[in-house]
Amino acid sequence: MRVLVTGGTGTLGRPAVQRLLQRGHEVRVLSRRSSPALPHGAAAVYGDLSTGAGIAAAVEGVDAVLHAASNTGIGLGRGDVAGTQRLLDAARSAGVAHLLYVSIVGIDRIPLVYYRRKLACEQVVLGSGVGHTIFRATQFHELLTGALLAVERWPLVPLPVSWRFQPVAAEEAAACAVELLAAGPHGRAPDFGGPEVMTLAELTRVWRQRRGRPGRVVGIPLPGRVSLGFRLGLNTCPSNASGRRRWAEHVAALSETG
Ligand SMILES: NC(=O)c1ccc[n+]([C@@H]2O[C@H](COP(=O)([O-])OP(=O)(O)OC[C@H]3O[C@@H](n4cnc5c(N)ncnc54)[C@H](OP(=O)(O)O)[C@@H]3O)[C@@H](O)[C@H]2O)c1
Repeated sequence: MRVLVTGGTGTLGRPAVQRLLQRGHEVRVLSRRSSPALPHGAAAVYGDLSTGAGIAAAVEGVDAVLHAASNTGIGLGRGDVAGTQRLLDAARSAGVAHLLYVSIVGIDRIPLVYYRRKLACEQVVLGSGVGHTIFRATQFHELLTGALLAVERWPLVPLPVSWRFQPVAAEEAAACAVELLAAGPHGRAPDFGGPEVMTLAELTRVWRQRRGRPGRVVGIPLPGRVSLGFRLGLNTCPSNASGRRRWAEHVAALSETG
């Protein structure tokens, strides 16, 4: 297949591009960067979903699109809905047979601003008339790692320790996304989660055992429906614990490499 990957320079996109190449697909990566670092064999196409620049050319002649681009982090998904709409409009005009949208477990149950925008993106995909798959995954190991690396040297780290997560390796989620993409439009795919649901207290305990920091973690009770959603684990899918790699293995590997 000829595949366009949006977000192919990101946490999920990088291993997805690798996997697609290994499977013998022809891969184009849409990026706002002038010369993104890509694995051998992948072609970069300049494009920006927030302006529409380069999108029509990027989808021209492709069979499938793996849509993993998002204004993540402090961007809170701003512009994602319009960007997804632009991508789908271009995909429809170009006759693309299948678009897989990477989404997040629980976005319809936790009223986080980013999640509301992801849900709106899903609606755009559903109403697009383009053959599609919506693939929801739980939080990546890499996301929690980024958060803990940022605070691990603080003498005292206040955290909502009762929040629950089901961390999954981005590489495993990427592999599943690639299989689904190759299988053709599926509608809503089964949720994809890591092998275990853990509280933030448990996740940080593993982290501290391996890395010896942070010195102290204190629980903070956060009010509101978002916090309640994470406490209840509405962002998890314990009956779809398909990922294999455990949080402890991830932290151990991370600590060995520095
Ligand atoms: N992180 C998690 O824990 C997690 C869990 C489940 C699902 N997801 C979902 O998985 C997807 C990928 O997440 P991630 O963590 O891999 O993201 P990420 O590492 O933050 O990467 C974001 C990607 O989006 C691209 N991008 C952002 N704005 C763009 C724009 N205007 N035009 C074109 N490309 C743009 C970036 O490409 P350039 O910078 O090269 O332009 C980059 O490759 C997202 O939809 C996210 O919601 C994430």
